[in-house]
Formats: sequence, C-alpha cells, structure tokens
Amino acid sequence: MDFSLTQEQERIRQWVRTFAQSRVAPLAAGIDERDELPRHLLAEMGELGLLGLPIPEAWGGVGADFLSYILAVEELSYASAAVGLVVAVHTAVGSFPILYFGTPVQQQRYLPRLASGTWLAAFALSEPEAGSDAAALRTRAQRSGAGYVLNGSKVFVTNGSFADLFCVFAVTDARRGSRGISAFLVERGTPGLQLGPSLRKMGMNGSGTCALVLEDVYVPEEQRLGEEGEGFPIAMRLLDGGRVGIAAQALGIARAAFDAAHAYTRTRKQFGQEIFQFQGVQFMLADMATQIEAARWLVYRAALLRQAGKPCTREAAMAKLFASDTAMRVTTDAVQLLGGYGYAKDYPVERYMRDAKVTQIYEGTNQIQRIVISRHLTR
Ligand code: CAA
Repeated sequence: MDFSLTQEQERIRQWVRTFAQSRVAPLAAGIDERDELPRHLLAEMGELGLLGLPIPEAWGGVGADFLSYILAVEELSYASAAVGLVVAVHTAVGSFPILYFGTPVQQQRYLPRLASGTWLAAFALSEPEAGSDAAALRTRAQRSGAGYVLNGSKVFVTNGSFADLFCVFAVTDARRGSRGISAFLVERGTPGLQLGPSLRKMGMNGSGTCALVLEDVYVPEEQRLGEEGEGFPIAMRLLDGGRVGIAAQALGIARAAFDAAHAYTRTRKQFGQEIFQFQGVQFMLADMATQIEAARWLVYRAALLRQAGKPCTREAAMAKLFASDTAMRVTTDAVQLLGGYGYAKDYPVERYMRDAKVTQIYEGTNQIQRIVISRHLTR
C-alpha cells in the first residue's frame, strides 16, 4: 500500500493551498456574515481552473485526477467551508453527471461552460417528502410531444441561488419505484422553473441553498440524462463520489479548527503557563490529531478507489461518516479549548463548528451512511 502523493498531486495541493490561504481565507468571515459568495472570487477560481479541476482538458478542464480534486476541496474548505462546498457540488454532482452520463451533444454544450466556471451547476434530488428516502420522489416528468413536462418541488439545492444548470430527478413511471426515476438537465431561465429565496442556515453561509418549484417546465428529450428509468442509480453513483468530497470538506474544516486551537493553546497563559502545558489540554489535542489522521486516510483511500474506477460505495460512506463526525468533535473541542473566545465571533472556531454540523447531514445523513455500510457487510 502506497499512500504517498504523486508529484502532480502534491503540486496541485500546494497550488490550491496557496490560493486558498491568500485569496479565500481573508474573505471567509465576510462570506459567512453576509451569506454571500463574491462573484469575483468565483470568476477568479473559474479562470484558474478550480471549477473544472477533474474535467478533461478536451472539455476545458485541468484534467487532474480525482484525488487531486479531493485535495483541492480539502484545502478550500480549510479556508472557507462554503467555498469548498460550492466547488464540490458544482463538480461532483453538477458537472460529473454530464461527463459520465451525458450525450456528446450535452457534453459539448455544457462541459466547457462548467469547467471554466462560466456556468455553475446544482443537483436537485431532495424534496420536502423525499430526503433520506430518495426514491420517494413526487416530482413528475410526463411525456409530452418530443419531451417531458416537469411538475413538482425540490429543497436544499446547494448552489441553487446562483446555478445556471440543474440536474433534476423526476418520476417518469410511478409504477416502477426507484426504476421509474429519470434525470434531466434544466437550465436556469427555463419557463416554469422558479427559484425560492436563499435558505437561512446555521452555517455554510454563502452556498446559495434554495428550493425549486417546477411548474409545467417543458424539457426536450435531448435534455434527459441517461436512459429513462436510469435516474436513481445515476444519482447514487454520483453521490458515491460526492460523499468523498463532503468527507474532504469535513477534513479541511477539522484541520482548520485543530490548527486554530493548537496555536491558541501555545499563546494563552493561565495559572502562570501556556495552557498547552496542562496534560488535560495535551490529551484533547492528541485525540483531535489522531481522529484527523484517521479521517484523512479514509478519505484518501475512498478517493483512490474512486479514481481507479473500483467500487467505492462502502468506503465513500465510511469516509463521509467518520470525517464528518471527526469534524464535529474536533470543532466542538476547539471551541472548548478557546473557552469564551471560542464562543465569540472574533475567532473563527465557532464558524468551523457551525459549518461542520451539516457535513453529518447532507449528501446522505450519517444514519443513511450507516445503512449503506451495513448493506455492504459481508458475512
Ligand atoms: N451505485 C449504483 N447503483 C446503486 C447504488 C450505488 N451506490 N446504490 C443503490 N443503487 C441501485 C441499486 O442497485 C438498485 O438497483 P436495482 O433496482 O437495479 O436493483 C437501486 O439503486 C435501488 O437501490 P436500493 O434498493 O438500495 O434503494 P433504497 O430505496 O433502499 O435507498 C439509500 C438507498 C442508500 C437509502 C438512498 O435512498 C440514499 O442514498 N438516500 C440518501 C439520499 C441522499 O444522499 N440525498 C442527498 C441529496 S443531495 C444534497 O444533500 C444537497 C446538496 O446539494 C449537497
């Protein structure tokens, strides 16, 4: 087993780290406070190739491998979890649908725009009555002429407020359960597609989460992604990769919280000494560092499997479960180590804690990850 990074992966990690620390980190508190991602930052990331990192060069992307993309999400999330999320959703469940399941015409039309960041993408699966039970969708796609008419509503659409393209899942044959679901590419501005206001959230502010209402939205057949009835397995396969991205995001947040807490304990003096000198504090930091290290290898291993085209459903679920639980524990302990300052907005650790929480929830709650893992247990 070789867990070392290739020169190219190391180069991309350093490049994204430098960018994230110099360009993203200074904006992070403002993004959180104003619940808004500056468009100039997205434009800059698009120009640099950060919105098309694992998209082949033929489509205008950087052509990096999946692990490099995961390292990039980790580094961006270290600086701003919301920025990491926007990139992760745009890439893994926004652009990959077209790269892996799109027709040549769909690829030609969308991939260059998505890879350059000219357009942003979103993933519209969840509904008010279909969250964890993703196959229970109520949005309908009714055959009509040379296409379909979509009616229904979607919730918790990350990037939704500013996305130009939505991958929408809808029922084409209600008698067939999960085999009766199809996926459609719906462009912003399509008549009948309405965006709700940006959802006010505990954290991950700036990621433009909104609801969608689809009222008689006509989508030509050429905009269907994959065959009719293939939508559910497409969603699940995309989420396998997406969950590794969420795990990387959690890892980045946990590392940021650890570094902030560690640095603080080296400068804060109480009872006549740095608080780091207290064994109770050292034990907390040792546990945090160990959990982060374990999470890191679960995340990278899942990424390597995914990159090799091997099955990774179980490993992606494990990485997402463990890394997000780690992020929640580590950020909570970081707040504790900073004491009153940890609870104050003057320090970033309270933001890390608020941002970490949702990594246990979205792209499948950690209860769902346990269901996925247990279904893959062999006797
Ligand atoms: N890859 C490929 N196919 C898969 C698959 C995978 N990982 N998982 C399941 N399938 C296939 C199965 O093989 C099965 O196919 P057949 O009908 O041919 O046998 C079909 O899909 C149905 O599978 P299940 O019977 O396992 O389906 P289920 O109804 O029991 O649900 C579940 C399984 C894992 C619980 C699934 O519903 C799930 O993942 N739920 C969570 C949904 C989720 O993650 N939502 C997040 C939405 S995005 C978001 O969070 C917002 C955002 O923007 C970030």
